[in-house]
Amino acid sequence: MVIILVLSVLGLNAQDHAGKPVPTYVTGDECLFCHRVKVVDTWQQNPHARTIWPNEKGEEFIGSKLARPLRKAGYGKFDILAADKKTWDKEKFANRCAGCHATAVDPETKAFATTALDCYACHGVADPNHTKDATLMRFSSKYPKNAREIVSVCGSCHLRGGKSHSSGLPYPNNFVPGDDLFHDFEVDLAQADNEKLNAGDRHVFANVRDVLKNGSSSTCLSCHAIHTDSSAKHKRVLTSAICQNCHNAEGPKSAVKKYEVHSALCEY
Ligand code: HEC
Ligand code: HEC
Ligand code: HEC
Ligand code: HEC
Ligand code: HEC
Ligand code: HEC
Repeated sequence: MVIILVLSVLGLNAQDHAGKPVPTYVTGDECLFCHRVKVVDTWQQNPHARTIWPNEKGEEFIGSKLARPLRKAGYGKFDILAADKKTWDKEKFANRCAGCHATAVDPETKAFATTALDCYACHGVADPNHTKDATLMRFSSKYPKNAREIVSVCGSCHLRGGKSHSSGLPYPNNFVPGDDLFHDFEVDLAQADNEKLNAGDRHVFANVRDVLKNGSSSTCLSCHAIHTDSSAKHKRVLTSAICQNCHNAEGPKSAVKKYEVHSALCEY
């Protein structure tokens, strides 16, 4: 009773959708039909809309910049070109990539509903009444800002190296925005102190740990804007330990430590 009360005050239900059917959701075409200004102009260039993308010939690639070849293999499935650049791997995409680069992966079949990331990946199941009451739409300017909920959504893909307890896969089991990611997705937060990890991935772990363990209200969205693909506002955030991933403890912030992003999971 008390637990339920506390969680509802926090605005997060302890539920997750691990192993359950993918919920019905409003697709991006429908959202964009109404949201013609602002979002529609920039969406096609957003890296989240290009996690998988086709060229003029209709050949598909994973990675907006690195462009590793994929090949259609039936509904919701891809083969991926192996590291030898000659053979096609038929298992890897579904077992190791789909959950973070495609939308709404079915826990039973591991088939995705749409390539790349649809609005649903972050905004979740949209309430049709949000047109009159923006508090009903996750990430609207009026939606309550709950730090654990925000890092659950962004962390559902950006905590690379985590593992779903229920499926054993390296991506969350049917995560739906609003769920508590950390119910089923096991993450080693000590990666926040791993000097060998690149600063790109490390600061993600550092921020998630600050929220989960230290009650921080600064989140990914204090520093990143999604629809303008910009981290300009990070300069206005109060200096704390997380800044040292990229800046020195002393001296001007104009000095930025160089780092290159690599990932064993994503194979680059
Ligand atoms: C846990 C979620 C997750 C899984 C699973 C995952 N990725 Fe990624 N991938 C990401 C995220 C997040 C990024 C962006 C990281 C960044 O920019 O710092 C990314 C980036 C990439 C990039 C670089 C994008 C670019 O072009 O700059 C490639 C290529 C890639 N992933 C391929 C793969 C492949 C292939 C697999 C499966 C073998 C895979 N990923 C599995 C989350 C994941
Ligand atoms: C990767 C996560 C993510 C995806 C995918 C995403 N959004 Fe957003 N959206 C956000 C966040 C976070 C905000 C809050 C403002 C910001 O940080 O940019 C937002 C804000 C908005 C806003 C209100 C702010 C504005 O600029 O007018 C609209 C409308 C919107 N999103 C529509 C969409 C639509 C439509 C799609 C799909 C085509 C989509 N979003 C896909 C994360 C996402
Ligand atoms: C039937 C038309 C319609 C559809 C479909 C629709 N929206 Fe909206 N949406 C609106 C209207 C009208 C508003 C309120 C006016 C505004 O703020 O733009 C709104 C508001 C929003 C806001 C809040 C903007 C702010 O002020 O911060 C977001 C975010 C948003 N919608 C995202 C979405 C997403 C994501 C989808 C698809 C899952 C979607 N909408 C589908 C019409 C629609
Ligand atoms: C469903 C998975 C998923 C979710 C949810 C998600 N991202 Fe991403 N994000 C990715 C992948 C994959 C990439 C790399 C895309 C590429 O370049 O191919 C990426 C790229 C990025 C980048 C780098 C953009 C660039 O310019 O290279 C930032 C910053 C980012 N995401 C922040 C966020 C934030 C903040 C949230 C939460 C509001 C979020 N993401 C939610 C998967 C996701
Ligand atoms: C204190 C501010 C801050 C916080 C909090 C923060 N970031 Fe970042 N992040 C940055 C800055 C600044 C960059 C570098 C942008 C650039 O190079 O232009 C960055 C880079 C990134 C990149 C791209 C990595 C690369 O260089 O390829 C991703 C992806 C990302 N952040 C995701 C996230 C996610 C997800 C969260 C939340 C868990 C988060 N960030 C929290 C400031 C922040
Ligand atoms: C993931 C890496 C990353 C993190 C974490 C990060 N920064 Fe930055 N910061 C950058 C990069 C890259 C630039 C240079 C590009 C730019 O101006 O956006 C920068 C530039 C700046 C600048 C402008 C400096 C100048 O004189 O031009 C300020 C101020 C700043 N950061 C403050 C902060 C603060 C405060 C924090 C912690 C709350 C922080 N940064 C965390 C990567 C990061």
